Amino acid sequence: MDQADQLRKLVSSQKKVRKTSRVITVTSGKGGVGKSTLTVNLGLAMQRLGKKVVILDADFGLANIEVMLGSRPKFNLADLMFRGKNLQEIITKGPEDLEFISGGSGIQEMSRLTRDQVIYLVQKLYELDELADIILVDTGAGIADSVLEFVSASNEVLIVATPEPTSITDAYALLKTLNRKSDYSRESTTIKMIANRISSEEEGATLHEKLQVVVEKFLNIKIEYLGGIHQDPNCQKAIMRQEPILIGSPNSSTAKEIEAIARKLLDIQLDEKEGKGIAQLFNRWMKAIYKKK
Ligand SMILES: Nc1ncnc2c1ncn2[C@@H]1O[C@H](COP(=O)(O)OP(=O)(O)OP(=O)(O)O)[C@@H](O)[C@H]1O
Ligand SMILES: [Mg+2]
Repeated sequence: MDQADQLRKLVSSQKKVRKTSRVITVTSGKGGVGKSTLTVNLGLAMQRLGKKVVILDADFGLANIEVMLGSRPKFNLADLMFRGKNLQEIITKGPEDLEFISGGSGIQEMSRLTRDQVIYLVQKLYELDELADIILVDTGAGIADSVLEFVSASNEVLIVATPEPTSITDAYALLKTLNRKSDYSRESTTIKMIANRISSEEEGATLHEKLQVVVEKFLNIKIEYLGGIHQDPNCQKAIMRQEPILIGSPNSSTAKEIEAIARKLLDIQLDEKEGKGIAQLFNRWMKAIYKKK
């Protein structure tokens, strides 16, 4: 297909009503706070709740998605962009058929793309939209330009913070820089937060409150708190074993915390959508009867 053909096809395809996936970008101000750990496990949790999830690994950290899932990708986003691979070829299957795309050098090279290459990439990403209900993007930490560009283009940003002293100031710095980006829109972006490696529920809630206070005062941004995840040595073991905690320790309190956050993200009310056994059913029934009296 020549360039003109490609452009024509892209324009005509945009007229159609398309299925779009929900893209959730996971980021943090400070590195090593648990972004990749949470991306992988939230992906598994949401997939178990019936959603088709694809993870896009846009992180260049050491413990990245492929290491955590223990599956080596044959090709990555750069192979699609420059070497003629198609979308299916660059998608790698992990445990429980959780799919991911390794960014490779593709994310860094994004700014060097020619117009034709951009058109080509956009077409391919439409295919990904058709395929996935949810795309979870794991980014690198901090205010590196390539990360920020990506984050500011996202409608749904999930910030991970920990109780370490600099974690909140770094998260604030990230939001402050984001706020200055021209393509960032306060109205069309929702920002959510997870507190990771906490030692108590209160610690997590306080962390959110601290960030919320400054961010609201200086940037007029609201941050929804999704919940906290306790410090758990199994997280490190999970990386060593290349087995996500939701698979290796499915009954652990950490797995339950992650599942609760996944439900919150999918807006599933526990009482409504999930059976809690006959006792609860009777409980609810009784309450309803007593209300009538
Ligand atoms: N709740 C937790 N309890 C204990 N350790 C944790 C927890 N969450 C993550 N970790 C550990 O913290 C380290 C960093 O985690 P991870 O690689 O997920 O962070 P990251 O934010 O993706 O890092 P990077 O910024 O380098 O990409 C890992 O060793 C991981 O096992
Ligand atoms: Mg990471």
